[in-house]
Amino acid sequence: MQQLIRGRVLGFHADPSETDDNHRYIEDGAILIEDGRILAVDEYTVLARPDLAEIDHRPHLIMPGFIDPHIHFPQVQVIASWGAQLLDWLNTYTFPEEARFADPDHATRMAGLFLDQLTAHGTTTGVAFCSVHATSAEALFSAAEARDMAMVAGKVMMDRNAPDSVLDTPQQGYDDSKRLLEKWHGRGRQRYAITPRFAITSTPGQMEATGALVREHPDCHVQTHLSENLEEIEFTLSLYPEARDYLDIYEKYGLLSDKLLLGHSIHLREREIARMAETGSRAVFCPTSNLFLGSGLFDEAGLRAAGIVSGIATDVGGGTSYSMLQTLNEGYKILQLRGQKLHPLQAFHWATRGNALALGMQDRIGTLEPGSDADLVVLDAGATDAMALRMERAEALAEELFILQIMGDDRAIAQVYVAGNPRKPAAQPRNGRQGK
Ligand code: GUN
Ligand code: FE
Repeated sequence: MQQLIRGRVLGFHADPSETDDNHRYIEDGAILIEDGRILAVDEYTVLARPDLAEIDHRPHLIMPGFIDPHIHFPQVQVIASWGAQLLDWLNTYTFPEEARFADPDHATRMAGLFLDQLTAHGTTTGVAFCSVHATSAEALFSAAEARDMAMVAGKVMMDRNAPDSVLDTPQQGYDDSKRLLEKWHGRGRQRYAITPRFAITSTPGQMEATGALVREHPDCHVQTHLSENLEEIEFTLSLYPEARDYLDIYEKYGLLSDKLLLGHSIHLREREIARMAETGSRAVFCPTSNLFLGSGLFDEAGLRAAGIVSGIATDVGGGTSYSMLQTLNEGYKILQLRGQKLHPLQAFHWATRGNALALGMQDRIGTLEPGSDADLVVLDAGATDAMALRMERAEALAEELFILQIMGDDRAIAQVYVAGNPRKPAAQPRNGRQGK
């Protein structure tokens, strides 16, 4: 059945560079969808037909659903754990919590709640680290498939420097990953990501096995962490004394490519930046996490100038919010501290099309192009009294977006469509607020 979704429609072009023309905005626009896909985007008057079912979201803004390219599924109950930086935080809070995901009932319950949180915050695709247990990835993929939600996920491989309850072995990590990958990669909207947690928790033997998986499955994403924290870097280099730098460990085992997502990528050396650029490896900026764990300030402009493609992500539970709006808010502030500017049109491009480009999935998600998946978010920039008050003085689209970016959270998510299906009960537009 065809459906017409009406509102103020904002889509983004592939090239993010010029904020003035990185987007197409239609004041009285509509999106025609059928079977979970977008058929057309245009003026409402062009697409309207008497036989079409219509949903009217005016005066709200409709754009592609947010993409979160780095998040930890088994950390839903780790968010807001007090007082530690990365390595202590992992040992004190995170590893013990992840051990609970060996229990399939717990993993299944948490998977549903995790996906509920993503959609409540306007995120329609996540790239997730699961726990070491195959059960956790099974639970997440099953829940995502039941909702027809596109997830990229993998069980973490880790075989040292953590409690036994969250360790595998090189062989078991390889076998479990392979089995999950063969079952889930490319099944419906699901994709498997090969997931060595980070160099500290993998022996050279496990890195070898990871390299073999990557060679055997070059179309899978690979996700890990890189240079998040100074103590982490020092410990890592002590474990791999022959490595020229942190990235060199991943390089040696053949992980570098445009499928590789390197969470954090903060404290990088010149050689690492050059190799990331040459191999197309992606950096993923995790602002709320970097502030919360006191990790450091991501150099967006520097990496872009070097030719590196970056994503922006929550990193829940080191990150403190599922909201990509709050992520863009903290991202803006981090870049302020570095003397860099994050324009709202660049920010919203980043959270949608930019993250899709970082994943190489730009033809299907993060876009409103005909033929792409109907994953949409509907945003209300007057969702709270404080936002509505500020909106009284907003004139341009960019101002409205910036208010959403700085003041918005899940309350600003009026509706979310996953493969064309609305995920929230229909909300009433707020009193008297008019679109710009
Ligand atoms: N490095 C290795 N594991 C993790 C994790 O779970 N969270 C963060 N922020 N960094 C990591
Ligand atoms: Fe992380």
